[in-house]
Amino acid sequence: MKEKYTFDEIVTHLKSSGFVYQGSEIYGGLSNSWDFGVLGSWLKKNIKDLWWKEFIEKSPYNVGIDSAIIINPKAWEASGHLAGFSDAMVDCKECKGRFRADNMIQDATGLSAEGKTPEEMDQMIEENNIKCPVCGKHNFTKARPFNLMFKTFIGTLEDSKSTVYLRPETCQGIFINFNNVLRTSRKKVPFGIGQIGKSFRNEITPGNFIFRTGEFEQMELEFFCKPGTDLDWYKYWVDYCFNFVKKLEINEENLRVREHDKKELAFYSKGTSDIEYAFPFTDWGEVWGIADRTDYDLKQHSEYSGKDLNYLDPETNERYIPYCVEPSVGVERLFLMICCDAYERQQLDENDERIVMHLHPALAPIKACVCPLSKKLSEPATELFNELSKEFYCEYDESGSIGKRYRRNDAIGTPFCITYDFDSENDNCVTVRDRDSMEQSRIPISELKDYIKARLIF
Ligand code: GAP
Repeated sequence: MKEKYTFDEIVTHLKSSGFVYQGSEIYGGLSNSWDFGVLGSWLKKNIKDLWWKEFIEKSPYNVGIDSAIIINPKAWEASGHLAGFSDAMVDCKECKGRFRADNMIQDATGLSAEGKTPEEMDQMIEENNIKCPVCGKHNFTKARPFNLMFKTFIGTLEDSKSTVYLRPETCQGIFINFNNVLRTSRKKVPFGIGQIGKSFRNEITPGNFIFRTGEFEQMELEFFCKPGTDLDWYKYWVDYCFNFVKKLEINEENLRVREHDKKELAFYSKGTSDIEYAFPFTDWGEVWGIADRTDYDLKQHSEYSGKDLNYLDPETNERYIPYCVEPSVGVERLFLMICCDAYERQQLDENDERIVMHLHPALAPIKACVCPLSKKLSEPATELFNELSKEFYCEYDESGSIGKRYRRNDAIGTPFCITYDFDSENDNCVTVRDRDSMEQSRIPISELKDYIKARLIF
């Protein structure tokens, strides 16, 4: 297992190397808002592309959609978000700090307050004499629910009739399109509908960098199956998601699948598992949730919309509301897990240290960096760069010593540095230096694309 680094060290690296920027930095920032930089936007894109490939393109069952962020507010009544999508929060009467009650209790005592009512949380705060994490005093308001949906208005009037919400999850856009997809895709149960898109939650306790933010992207699959087959599909998707994470080359010792016990389950769920990662800031943090949601969502939307969402089985002529298994993951959570796992500071010898991001080549923002040994070789090296750029996102770097160029690329996870030297003119070969092993191989230029391609396979 790789040495664990502090979260601060990893975050500093991600900020300084162009993966993540503080949101609205020139205006002093905005609470819990982050921008993804030159490298970070590539890493996000690569994560999303891999998910889409594995969950939509390669799956014989699934199709994808892209639904609206703002949908008819009745859908949020049906889903239960208007009434129940809230965390209990408390305010410190002394310093006016606002905290999520369950997090504050957990941090202060190690006790879980998951599933507790606000009254039960008040009691835990009193019994354990919990102090404010900011000012250290014990003087709180009662815990009360706080709806996590961002509100806005549609049209010119700002009243209750024009109130709409930014979606807090992408899946409801899938449920409300169930009939549309059935009608237009010729899919039969079992089948799944996936989508990738932004979700928004007014999180009371944001934090831990990009782990929990107000604006994030989700990759969700709603997999519809015949009632009675749902638990088998649930197991299938838990394994499928776990394999996906393992294929990202995440250190298995830092991973686990945790099945929720009965008390933790949402009332409509027959089973839920989280894929968790040992983040440096906590013991285990949720990355991916896989839930058997039964027929709850389609039934609710059927009732609130008045539209029949029954499925007519063409083989048996049975009519039923399909059960749904949902694997749901945040792009930024995967991003953070990948970066925490990939980061390494290596002491090469007494005076030489390097930072290296061991990203799977398919995830690496820059696939190869073309480095002419001398500026005199700019022309043929640029030609090589132009040729490779037709296939991969590459960089061209002729500044500084070769050693420095290697280090720069190691630190951002570029798997290959390609040195064009004076011999290249005669033997039509280049030196390919591997990021992880630091080994160098002489490769014919004519084979270079295939050489790189073979290592990008996921
Ligand atoms: N449709 C089910 C659903 O949204 P969830 O457990 O609330 O379930 C699913 O969210 C996943 O979305 C989480 O496992 C996490 O990866 C990601 N996620 C949720 N809230 C987030 C936040 N505030 N910031 C970043 N990612 C978040």
